[in-house]
Amino acid sequence: MKKIMLNQYGDVDVMKMTNVDIPKPSANQIVIKTVAIGVNDPDIGIRAKGPFSTMPKKIKPVLPHSLGQDFSGIVIAIGNGVTKYAVDDHVVGMSLMNTYSEYIVLEESALIAAVPKTLDLVPLGGFVLGAATAYAATIRDGQIKSGQKVLIHGGAGGVGSNAIQFAKNAGAHVIATGTANQTEYMKNLGADRTIDYRTQDFTKLVSNVDLVVNLTGLKTLRNSYKIVKKGGRITSVNAIINPIQTRLRGITGIYSKGILSTKELVDIIEIYNQGKLHVTIDKTYPFDLDDIKQAHLDFQAGGNTGKKIIVFDNKADLNMK
Ligand SMILES: NC(=O)c1ccc[n+]([C@@H]2O[C@H](COP(=O)([O-])OP(=O)(O)OC[C@H]3O[C@@H](n4cnc5c(N)ncnc54)[C@H](OP(=O)(O)O)[C@@H]3O)[C@@H](O)[C@H]2O)c1
Repeated sequence: MKKIMLNQYGDVDVMKMTNVDIPKPSANQIVIKTVAIGVNDPDIGIRAKGPFSTMPKKIKPVLPHSLGQDFSGIVIAIGNGVTKYAVDDHVVGMSLMNTYSEYIVLEESALIAAVPKTLDLVPLGGFVLGAATAYAATIRDGQIKSGQKVLIHGGAGGVGSNAIQFAKNAGAHVIATGTANQTEYMKNLGADRTIDYRTQDFTKLVSNVDLVVNLTGLKTLRNSYKIVKKGGRITSVNAIINPIQTRLRGITGIYSKGILSTKELVDIIEIYNQGKLHVTIDKTYPFDLDDIKQAHLDFQAGGNTGKKIIVFDNKADLNMK
């Protein structure tokens, strides 16, 4: 089977296509034929510069390693003792630094959820990481309540597009920052108001916010403390919260990790199945070295309005024409 590997960090040419054996399941493991995977910010960041300093040691990759986080696929083999999944089940999940691969082997206890066979697995390939991180930052750690004023920084990104939808579904008044070309996209996702971060200063336009969800960098986080109302919250998925700022201002700050329980993932899939969460596909790319490099180049050019999804060659399995 084909699998992307890195022996070093750098530009897109550090990604190499390798040929390795299709994994066989040991006890309590399942093997999944990958259908689609999302291109996410960590893929680009880690490929370019190596693991983030904020990554817990137990999940920090060591070279040589592959790339990728979330996937959709079809179970093709199960090991002894597997009870939750059967061959032909359609599944989504996470397999850190391991999804740029035609087959994935995982413990059945890993973060996986079965999805109804009526759902298209292509958009779902780019769903789990963004949805999990957005759920953590808005619902679990952000504790959004109906009627609250919520500011989402980076609302057009893979995480942000889900964060807008979670916040809107919860009944919040949603303000989202992004670029001018992302305005319409963010409004279609449910943003009540948008701010162009390149030309406007959000600190002069917004105040007394119940929750800030920071999906961008440290500068934006630093400027955000002063617009949160006393008793409010700030969540951040990238830059680390300053506890002195939160204590001084009487607000709660949480660094949100997109690590969910299987139950939380199953619940999110149910929300998706009910049509209350959507993945907008910007572009799909075949699982081919040149196309994967192009997907990274397109992603890192910025201005994205939708997911870039890498689709594997498995038309026969999906009965696609
Ligand atoms: N903690 C976790 O578990 C976890 C998990 C996954 C991801 N992450 C992190 O979450 C962040 C978002 O990931 P993603 O996949 O959604 O990335 P993404 O798709 O690149 O989204 C980031 C968005 O933020 C916009 N942006 C950049 N600077 C901004 C600013 N100053 N103000 C407002 N918007 C700004 C970008 O617009 P442009 O197009 O203009 O650049 C882009 O639309 C990344 O930092 C990623 O590493 C954390």
